[in-house]
Amino acid sequence: MQTFQGAILGIETSCDETAVAVLEGNGGILANVLDSQIDVHVSYGGVVPELASRRHMERLEHLTQEALKQAQIPLSQLQGIAVTNGPGLVGALIVGVNFAKALAYASGVSLVTVNHLEGHLASAWLADPGFTFPALVLIASGGHTHLALVSEPGTYQFIGWTIDDAAGEAFDKGAKMLGLPYPGGPAIDRLAQKGSARAVSFPRPNLHSQDLQFSFSGLKTSLLYYLRDVQKTGHTKVGVEDLAASYQEAIVDVLCEKLLQGARQSLVRSVAVVGGVAANSRLREKLTERARTQGISVVLPPRSLCTDNAAMIAAAGVEKLRRKEFASWDVEVFSTLQWKTLLKKRADHAGVGTV
Ligand code: KG4
Ligand code: ZN
Repeated sequence: MQTFQGAILGIETSCDETAVAVLEGNGGILANVLDSQIDVHVSYGGVVPELASRRHMERLEHLTQEALKQAQIPLSQLQGIAVTNGPGLVGALIVGVNFAKALAYASGVSLVTVNHLEGHLASAWLADPGFTFPALVLIASGGHTHLALVSEPGTYQFIGWTIDDAAGEAFDKGAKMLGLPYPGGPAIDRLAQKGSARAVSFPRPNLHSQDLQFSFSGLKTSLLYYLRDVQKTGHTKVGVEDLAASYQEAIVDVLCEKLLQGARQSLVRSVAVVGGVAANSRLREKLTERARTQGISVVLPPRSLCTDNAAMIAAAGVEKLRRKEFASWDVEVFSTLQWKTLLKKRADHAGVGTV
C-alpha cells in the first residue's frame, strides 16, 4: 500500500452495515467499528432499503465518535474523510455521503468519495502490505462478481464478470430455498461443514469455457428443481447439510477455477479474493490448496475485512487523497456500477483501454 502522512476517516453505508474506521496513512488500522443490521432485516429474509437508511441515520454519528475516540484523533487533525458513494442502495448511500460532507465542511478536512468495489479491492493490500502487483483480484460479494487485473493500487481493469447473479446472491438465494436465514452465505458455510460436498452433483456453469465469465442462475435453478423433485416424491436420503455442502462446492469450484484461469491467461502469479464471499471457509481452503500447487500466491483478507467495512474504504481513500482527487460539494451517489465512468477515469489516469 502507498503511504500517506496523517490519518483518514472511512465511512461506509452502501447496504446493511454502518461502518466507520480510522486508518493511518501507512495502512495501520487505528479503529474499525461497525453496526450490523442483520436483526433489522432477518424477519424479511433480505435487506429492506428504507429500514437500512433509517438505521444508518440512527447509528452513524455514535459510531464516528467511537472510532475517533478509539483512534485518539480529533476530527480536525484528520488528513481526509473517505466515504462510499456507490454502487449500493441510494437512500443508504445518501445518509453516509451527506454525513461525510457535513463533517468535512465543519472541520475543513478534505473529502474524497470511494467506489465500493475499489474499497473491496483495497482490502487486499490493506490485509497484506507486501501484496505483489500485478495481481488478479476476484471481488465476490452480494451484488458483484468481478475479476480485476490490478497493476498497482487504484489502477485496474475488469477482465471478467458475472453475466447474471453474483456469487453472494447465489449463496443467499440458495439458502432461502433451503429454508436458511438471511444472510445466506454464512448460514450455508456453517451447515456445509457437517455435510458431504459429493452428495449431489450440481452444475458448474462455464467451468471449462475459455472466457472469464461467471454464471450462477443455472445452478440456482438446478437446486430449485432438485427441491421440487424431492417434494413430489416425498423422500430423499440427502440431508440439508449435504445439499448445502454440494451447492457451496459448485460455487467454490467455479470461483477458484476462473480466478486461477484468469491468472494464467494474464501471466500473473499473485491473486486475492475480496468481498463477503471471500469469508467462505471452503473457498479459502480450496483456493489456498489449488493455488499452492500452481505456484500462485494468494491473499485472503481476514473475515472482518472481507465483508463490508470502512477500513477498506479509508484504504482506497488514501490513494485518492494522494492523487488529490477531492470530491466537490455536489457529488452524487449512484446505485449501479458505472462502467463508462470507471473506464474513462482509469484511462485518464493510467492509459488503460477498454475491457
Ligand atoms: O461484501 P459484502 O459484505 O456486501 C456486499 O458488498 O454485497 O458481501 C455480502 C455477501 C452476502 O451475499 C453474503 O451471503 C456473502 O457475502 N457472505 C458469504 C459468507 N459471508 C458473507 N458467502 C459465503 N460464505 C460466507 N462465509
Ligand atoms: Zn461489499
